[in-house]
Amino acid sequence: MKCTASGVAQVLLIRGELIIFIQIHMIHRRLILHYGDLSDSSNLNRLLVKIQPDEIYHLAAQSHVRVSFDIPEYTGNVTALGTVRLLEAIRCSGHKIKFYQASSSEMFGLALAPQSEHTIFQPQSPYACAKVYAHWMVRNYRDGYGLFACNGILFNHESPRRGETFVTRKITRGLAGILAGTQKKLYMGNLDAKRDWGFAPEYVEMMWLMLQQEKSDDYVVGSGESHSVREFIEKTFSYAGINILWRGKGLNTKGVIDSLSPKLKKSTFLKKGSAIIEIDREYFRPNEVDCLQADIAKAKKQLHWQPKVKFDGLVKIMVDYDLKAVGIIPPGEGVNICKGKWFSHD
Ligand code: GDD
Repeated sequence: MKCTASGVAQVLLIRGELIIFIQIHMIHRRLILHYGDLSDSSNLNRLLVKIQPDEIYHLAAQSHVRVSFDIPEYTGNVTALGTVRLLEAIRCSGHKIKFYQASSSEMFGLALAPQSEHTIFQPQSPYACAKVYAHWMVRNYRDGYGLFACNGILFNHESPRRGETFVTRKITRGLAGILAGTQKKLYMGNLDAKRDWGFAPEYVEMMWLMLQQEKSDDYVVGSGESHSVREFIEKTFSYAGINILWRGKGLNTKGVIDSLSPKLKKSTFLKKGSAIIEIDREYFRPNEVDCLQADIAKAKKQLHWQPKVKFDGLVKIMVDYDLKAVGIIPPGEGVNICKGKWFSHD
């Protein structure tokens, strides 16, 4: 993260349901953490007055789409109203604070792909509804109070730091467990949902870019490619030496081992023909978002931003990390992609 030239830059990064305020003092190279909670506006107000940040990156939310169907009220409180509490805290603080809102491609819901800044939202979950509310409040504060506030409509952003219950990480960790012999199968939900998966560190660069412009605006951020969960599984496993063959339909779909790399043929627990992927209805959602694909023309034209890591590279980066984590030497192509930049596998 680059900081302002003033010498003492203050950034407020908010992740998870709790918020973490990070002050970065460039002179002393110190990082200071403060604790807060999006459901507690008096605490937010106090912290803003105390820290007086230059920029706020608001990434906090109850961010799991499936979970939002179980706790819709809480999701609305934190994800929707939490954003308003922060916007109000900024407005009342009297400080000039630039604000970044983590809007989500989930807001597009059923809208036909590719989706751009002009696509009309058709949210399909309590999470997506909450994000639409927050998105429009950011626009209202920008138009009504002149706040420098940007919505970054991010498509799925992945990395080895991704939470373990989100689909990409669940798959790469599942592969690692199967190869290490600690897990027999991977139970999945809807294999046919398509997502635009990109590499999170590149998207963080875009968040920062948005706040460095003369005027605040909204941008779609994605890779421009769309792939199914099924494809993610196939690529993940084949990179590590397992070719998957799909058998059956619907809830009876199974991913069986079709062939193994010469090295894996020596394994005592991996056998051609055995099912390692199965379906569990538990992971399906009451409403699904079938296909997301970003149209990033505006980001390209106005901010000259374009992601370098595509689907293939992303899978390799994540697989290498999770194999290393269980003590397996990874193929290494993902480690090479990251060398000297973005992310270290060590
Ligand atoms: N989590 C999960 N687990 N998803 C599964 C599974 C499974 O076992 N099987 C299939 N899927 C499908 C889901 O139904 C969904 O269509 C797709 O995989 C992606 O699911 P997630 O990885 O949970 O992400 P998401 O697309 O719902 O939402 C993520 O991306 C958004 C940006 O577009 C989250 O990070 C959101 O917070 C974020 O806004």
